[in-house]
Amino acid sequence: MKKKLIAGNWKMNLTLNASIELTGNIVKNVPKKSIIETEVLICPTFIALSACSTLLKDSGIMLGAQNMSDKDDGAYTGEISASMLTAAGCEFVIIGHSERRKYFGETNQIVNSKSLKALTSGLKPIICVGETLQEREDEIYEAIVEKQISEGLAGISDEQMSDVTIAYEPVWAIGTGLNATPKQASDMHKFIRGLISGKYGSEIGNETRILYGGSVNAKNAGEILHAGGIDGALVGGAALKAEEFCTIISSATEK
Ligand code: 13P
Repeated sequence: MKKKLIAGNWKMNLTLNASIELTGNIVKNVPKKSIIETEVLICPTFIALSACSTLLKDSGIMLGAQNMSDKDDGAYTGEISASMLTAAGCEFVIIGHSERRKYFGETNQIVNSKSLKALTSGLKPIICVGETLQEREDEIYEAIVEKQISEGLAGISDEQMSDVTIAYEPVWAIGTGLNATPKQASDMHKFIRGLISGKYGSEIGNETRILYGGSVNAKNAGEILHAGGIDGALVGGAALKAEEFCTIISSATEK
């Protein structure tokens, strides 16, 4: 049975020292039982990755980056390559977060290209999808997510799908305190799983981990994580507080 994954996306927050402090506090406070039953991942900023990797050694907590280039090493000023991330100790990389799509112009094609590069470089992509408030109100959210999934997963093989995680993050729920209801999230997860099953067959559809993200906190994590078909959470603001993040991790195992 697949374990739930609780991932913290620290976004552009915390200096190196603050990242080290938070990582240390998470390692110290994470419930031992939860770390066996649940997978835990933190995604600090690039400059904190190496230091955090050292602190996470033997903790059972995994490390990921928030973005990467779809290019190999070379003359791409300001970019970070997949090989740099694996060398820094990353196992995962978040791809196509809505903030990357909105502020940095990442299209489904770029998301696809980055995801393919991650997979061929030994990194597991967490591919983010989700609709804006306008798209939900216009009732085109399923079509938007369908396009993000079909274009984002183009060319990814059956075999590679075992390393792919999808994160459904409705844009209107990110950083707003407005989370999707457990039913809204569960319905969208079912829809996304149907799309993956349609493309890859039901075995891969059932096995693919689909996370929910958007204003997950210590209070609402339990009901969201136990709504049907939700395999974990991608947590933003609440992942910046060790105690709250650890409470969310515990909620993944409590029934
Ligand atoms: P918040 O949990 O702060 O809403 O952010 C969610 C998110 O964007 C995680 O990637």
